[in-house]
Amino acid sequence: MGITTQCKTLSPIAEDILGKRYYHEGEDWKGLCERVASVISNGDKELVDDFFDVMYNLDFLPNSPTLANAGKESDRQQLSACFILPVEDDIVEIMETVKNTAIVHKSGGGTGFDFSSTRPKGSPVSSTNGVASGPLSWMKIINATTEEVKQGGMRRGANMGTLRVDHPDILDFILCKKNDKTMTNFNLSVGVSDVFMDAVEKGDDFELVNPHNKEVILTDAREIFDIICKNSWESGEPGMIFIDVVNSTNPVPHLGAIKSSNPCGEFYFIPFGVCNLGSINLVNMLKSVEDGRYVIDFDRLKKITEIAVTFLDKVIDVNHFPLPEIHDMAHNTRPIGLGVMGLADMLLYMKLPYDSDAGREMVGKVMKFIDDVGWATSNMLGRELGTFPEFQQENLPSQKTPRNCQITTIAPTGTLATFAGVSFGIEPNFNFVYRRKIVDSEFIQVHPLFEKVAKEEGFYSEELMETLRTTPSLKVRNLAGVPEHVKEYFITAFDISPEDHVKMQATVQKYVDNAVSKTINLPYDATSEQIGELYMMAWKLGCKGITVYRDGSRDDQVIVAVKES
Ligand code: GDP
Ligand code: 5AD
Repeated sequence: MGITTQCKTLSPIAEDILGKRYYHEGEDWKGLCERVASVISNGDKELVDDFFDVMYNLDFLPNSPTLANAGKESDRQQLSACFILPVEDDIVEIMETVKNTAIVHKSGGGTGFDFSSTRPKGSPVSSTNGVASGPLSWMKIINATTEEVKQGGMRRGANMGTLRVDHPDILDFILCKKNDKTMTNFNLSVGVSDVFMDAVEKGDDFELVNPHNKEVILTDAREIFDIICKNSWESGEPGMIFIDVVNSTNPVPHLGAIKSSNPCGEFYFIPFGVCNLGSINLVNMLKSVEDGRYVIDFDRLKKITEIAVTFLDKVIDVNHFPLPEIHDMAHNTRPIGLGVMGLADMLLYMKLPYDSDAGREMVGKVMKFIDDVGWATSNMLGRELGTFPEFQQENLPSQKTPRNCQITTIAPTGTLATFAGVSFGIEPNFNFVYRRKIVDSEFIQVHPLFEKVAKEEGFYSEELMETLRTTPSLKVRNLAGVPEHVKEYFITAFDISPEDHVKMQATVQKYVDNAVSKTINLPYDATSEQIGELYMMAWKLGCKGITVYRDGSRDDQVIVAVKES
């Protein structure tokens, strides 16, 4: 028997968010699922019931913009979460990008920019006989625009800003949030090359190159690396993007190099790239077998994956894209971002520790299965409807007729996992009982499995629940009264070593076409050197990027970085 029905009922917190932002007039969950299924199936009667069922049962959910905007009047039907916008070394083009950022944010999408082609601060500008204000000044303008558009749209704006490590203004960029407390609407990542990481390892010099006049300044790679690590230690930022690793899997390299990602780091693409996401709820893919154990129902997972890929591909056709360039890029490349949520909960049900070889092995198996079925489905769709126009065989050697240039990517599922009542994306649980304040209402959530196991194993008590509720960085492994065999797998983000966090990210990345959104949690007493080691480890294990967060290092600590406001 499956455990699907457990997730059918939405929690009060889910209803609260849905009521405030997602339901159209007079709608409930069933009405929302009917509306979205009808819009996305676009008159195809064979698909509409499947699309309704997977959403209504919380087996699969498309990203927030699809849930909220499907069925709105045509020019507001923007269905994607991730956008990449260009930044050229030209004031008119930059202002065009500022305008486009506001348009995308209003529609609920997040934007990513790479500022590396802008000339450094103090460079001459021939047309005005003045000097350039540098990449940071453009970031400031986008940041301020984001702040003002906040009031208008479905959710506040969110940006990713990247700068290549060989840009002469790199130190200003690394320190920018420290020096400018208003820069709150950006996540920051440094784009580091393999050459840079090699130079750090060997202690070599490294060249900073002015993108405008190609002037070179020699610097010490380790010095830059240490400053990045020290700032991440202090505030969690900047993150790192391993830009050569990212480009090694660019599915459309003939259209240009990839330089940036969307705000939470799961979608790397060329400028004007756009991606609509959706996530499978892995808890609903479990079935219980005779001896009470839970196993993955792979037949069901196959069916849900096929429906999910078909759904996400269809979204592209009915999507209203905010700019002609984005529309063309979407139709010529057709990327979709199928991910998962509830991965940590899946492992809990299976009694497999998140930080064990057995846990990682299971995760690898599930992710590979989804990726394989996803590509098979896309090839089938391609045979029926045509491959994506920019498909070139040498860029995707294992595919023959894919409809989409990429299938899988792992989103944080900040809202979707709350609707489904499961752990976020591939993150471990942060606690098993916690308070969450959403706008003006407070909710207390207890993990359904924790209460069940605690009662079955005889360690349930009100005192324990109170400890769980009031200890933010809780380590279950330190709790008295919890049996040893339960402590092994019933773990929070803080029980798991930072190295094991990275290993899980790398395991998932192996079977994901685009990238993985994940935070590497560190204890308060971690050092900046340890962060450097984790960055090296992530690069060597093939991660595309890394973001760390040291417990207690920011006053505004939230469960997920991008929050509803
Ligand atoms: P969900 O669909 O709402 O659960 O979104 P996720 O938490 O999975 O985030 C996926 C992507 O949506 C992010 O990487 C961003 O690109 C975008 N996004 C998420 N939250 C926000 C937000 O508050 N504002 C904007 N503008 N974009 C967001
Ligand atoms: N690069 C990538 N992801 C980031 N996040 C925050 N800052 C960055 C960054 N610079 C991500 C967190 C989390 C999500 C909510 O946002 O790692 O997964």
